[in-house]
Amino acid sequence: MPVKKQKDKRDLLSINDLTRDEVDELLEHTAKLKKKLKKSIPYQPLKGKTLAMIFSKSSTRTRVSFEVGMSQLGGQAIFLTPGDIQLGRGEPLADTARTLSRYVDGILIRTYSQDDVVDLARYADVPVINGLTDLLHPCQILSDIYTIVERRGSYQGLKVAHIGDGNNVANTWIQAAALLGFDLNIACPPKYQPDGGILDESLKIASSKINILHDPREAVKDVEVINTDVWTSMGQEAEQEQRLSDFQGFQVNHELLSSAPPEAVVMHCLPAHRGEEITEDVLEGKQSIVFDQAENRLHLQKAILEKFL
Ligand code: CP
Ligand code: NVA
Repeated sequence: MPVKKQKDKRDLLSINDLTRDEVDELLEHTAKLKKKLKKSIPYQPLKGKTLAMIFSKSSTRTRVSFEVGMSQLGGQAIFLTPGDIQLGRGEPLADTARTLSRYVDGILIRTYSQDDVVDLARYADVPVINGLTDLLHPCQILSDIYTIVERRGSYQGLKVAHIGDGNNVANTWIQAAALLGFDLNIACPPKYQPDGGILDESLKIASSKINILHDPREAVKDVEVINTDVWTSMGQEAEQEQRLSDFQGFQVNHELLSSAPPEAVVMHCLPAHRGEEITEDVLEGKQSIVFDQAENRLHLQKAILEKFL
């Protein structure tokens, strides 16, 4: 099948599609976009542009923030589930990619396999943005880094701990730590380590420390950010009972916070399962910044849309 590409098309399939300088530019531009919005200054560089959004999994934040973001930038978004389009009836991704490319200016996709996203991008003439796969969640972690930088000024000298599953969120934190040069401790049960390929690649380029640990207390001891995520990600529902038992001891709770510096903040990409990976009092407590994270998805993704579309 011939693959024809626009010369200047770029995709955001993983954080590694960006250089460190480009991440810095995105963070700076995000701050400007956020300020404009708060002051109600209209800014519509994407007038006349359309984003197709293919979602094979549920979403509140990603879907709404991209849709609202497109509209604030003067463009529009079309929400598509596989059931709405012929993809759900077996039309190949390659055909979907080439067809959508004739109508829209960019494609956002949330699905299971990272390979499918790579495949879509290979055949699409327009930029493809990864809105979460089983392997990665780049828009989330870029937004989270913006949230951290907004509070502390930069990511220089930052130390982050991720407690729980070595999942898409953990894999993306690893890539971010390697690219941007901050320290990261992942504390997970031995059976639930992050992706081996991502870890190896990241360790090769990292100038900072990336540690895979199995003791949450050790992981949080001298960090500024404690991140967690669900123990059962979308698509793993059949393993839920087993996971509930395997992740005992990996909850972000008051006791764990007592092993961390008192000024450490707690992050969670949401949705949260209270009483599993995080307790209600910690999620609602004064160290939690989870709704700032959720808000900043909008601002950071607007910067992504402007750059890539
Ligand atoms: N954090 C996140 O991606 O949330 P949604 O699943 O609601 O999009
Ligand atoms: N790890 C979670 C993140 C949800 C935003 C999942 O994949 O379901």
